[in-house]
Amino acid sequence: MPCTVVVGAQWGDEGKGKIVDALAAGVDIVARYQGGPNAGHSVIRNGTTIVLHVVPSGVLHPGKRCLIGNGVVVNLAALREEVRHLEALGLEVGGRLGISPAAHLILPYHRAVEAAAESGPGAIGTTGRGIGFAYRDKAARTGLRLSDLDDPEGFAAAADRNLERLRREFPGVEALAGMSGAGVLGELAECAAWVKPLVCDVSAEIARALKAGRRVLLEGAQGTLLDLDHGTYPYVTSSAASAAGAPLGVGIGPRAVDRVIGVTKAYATRVGNGPFPSEMPETEAARLREAGEEYGATTGRPRRCGWLDLEALRYAARVNGLDALIVTKLDVLDDFEEIRVAVGYERDGRPLEEFPSGARALERCRPVWKTFRGWKAPTGAARRWSDLPARAREYLEWIERECEVPIESVSVGAGREAAVSRT
Ligand code: IMP
Ligand code: MG
Repeated sequence: MPCTVVVGAQWGDEGKGKIVDALAAGVDIVARYQGGPNAGHSVIRNGTTIVLHVVPSGVLHPGKRCLIGNGVVVNLAALREEVRHLEALGLEVGGRLGISPAAHLILPYHRAVEAAAESGPGAIGTTGRGIGFAYRDKAARTGLRLSDLDDPEGFAAAADRNLERLRREFPGVEALAGMSGAGVLGELAECAAWVKPLVCDVSAEIARALKAGRRVLLEGAQGTLLDLDHGTYPYVTSSAASAAGAPLGVGIGPRAVDRVIGVTKAYATRVGNGPFPSEMPETEAARLREAGEEYGATTGRPRRCGWLDLEALRYAARVNGLDALIVTKLDVLDDFEEIRVAVGYERDGRPLEEFPSGARALERCRPVWKTFRGWKAPTGAARRWSDLPARAREYLEWIERECEVPIESVSVGAGREAAVSRT
C-alpha cells in the first residue's frame, strides 16, 4: 500500500517502534506526524536497544528518508542530541532527515511552567517535556515555529511577549525571571544553525513521492486513548495521536492514506494519571511489569499494568478505521495460568453500548471480565501461526473476531525476527 499509517491502539507503548522498524524495510519514506520527545520508541539493532524520541523509527534502515511533520513539536537540542547519538552508532542520519518549517518549537519556558502546573492538584502525569505548553502556544497562535528562526528579531520579541504572559500566569516559577527572548534565541543559536539544512517542505515531498508511486509510512506516537479529542480527556497528550492526525500532521489529504494499522499489546499498560478500567491490582501488575519490562522508555517510570481492554480496542478500531491489527508482546503472557480481558463496561449496573467520552464518564465504569485459560508454553520461537500454542491462537482469533479487524502479525519478543506473520 502506498501510504500506510501506524497508530497506537491503546495508551501508547504498544511497541510501534519495533513495528515501524520492520515495516520501514518496504517503504521509501517514514514520517512522524505528532507528539514530540514525550515519545520513547525502543528499537533493537544488532542486539542493542536504541530509544528514539522524535527521529522516525525507520531511521535504522540505511537510505530511508525520515521526515518530521508539521504536527510534531520539537526540542531542537534534544533532536540534535538524538541524531548525534545515532551517528555515533554508525548510522548516517543528517543527510536523510527532513523537518517541516511549520513544526513548533518546545522552548525552555514551556518546560519550566509545565513542571509548576504538574506539581499541583489535577496533574496529568505528563512526561515533563513541555509538550502540552508548546501545543498550547500553537493553539493560542503564540507559538514559535522552526521557520521563525529565520527572523531572529521577531522571534526574540515574540518570545519576550510569551514570557511576559507566563510570568503573570505563573508568578511562582522563578526560572522565568531569568529568561528573555534574546536569551532563549541565544541558547538556540547553535541548534538553529544545525537544523537549517534539514528544513524542507514535508507536505510537498510526501505528495510528490506518492505521485511517483513511492511508499510512505506515517508513524504515530502515544496512542488512541491519549488522543487530545478521542482519548480519556483530560488525561491525554496534546496532539492528534489517532490516525486522522496523520494526514493533518504531515500535510496531505485524508484520501491519500490507503491503510491504517493499529498496534496493541496482548495486555494493556498506561503511564501517567487517568482512568484505566482493566488495571490489575499491584501484586498482579508487578508480575506483568517484570515479565514485560514495563518501564517508560522516556521517563523510566513504572508503567501501570492491566489486562487487554476489548471495549477500548474496539473503540480504537472505530476511531482510527483500522484495517489491520498487530499484536505485540504475546510472549509476556506465556506463564500466566489465566488471562483476563475486559470485554465491556457497566455503569450504574447497566451495560454500556459504546466506549464513553472522556475520563469522568470512564471513571464511573466497571469492566465486565472474560477469563481465558493461559497457554503456559513459550511462544518466543514461533514464526508461523501454526507454531503458536492452540490456546494462544484461540485468544488472538477471538480478539480479531470481536474487533472485526484481522490480525496481521504478532510480536513474540523484542528482536526484529521475533514475529509471527498471519499468512
Ligand atoms: P505529555 O504528552 O508529556 O503531555 O503527557 C500526557 C500524558 O500522555 C501522560 O499520561 C503521559 O504519561 C502520556 N504519554 C505521553 N507520551 C507517551 C508515550 O510515548 N507513551 C506512553 N504515554 C505517554
Ligand atoms: Mg513508548
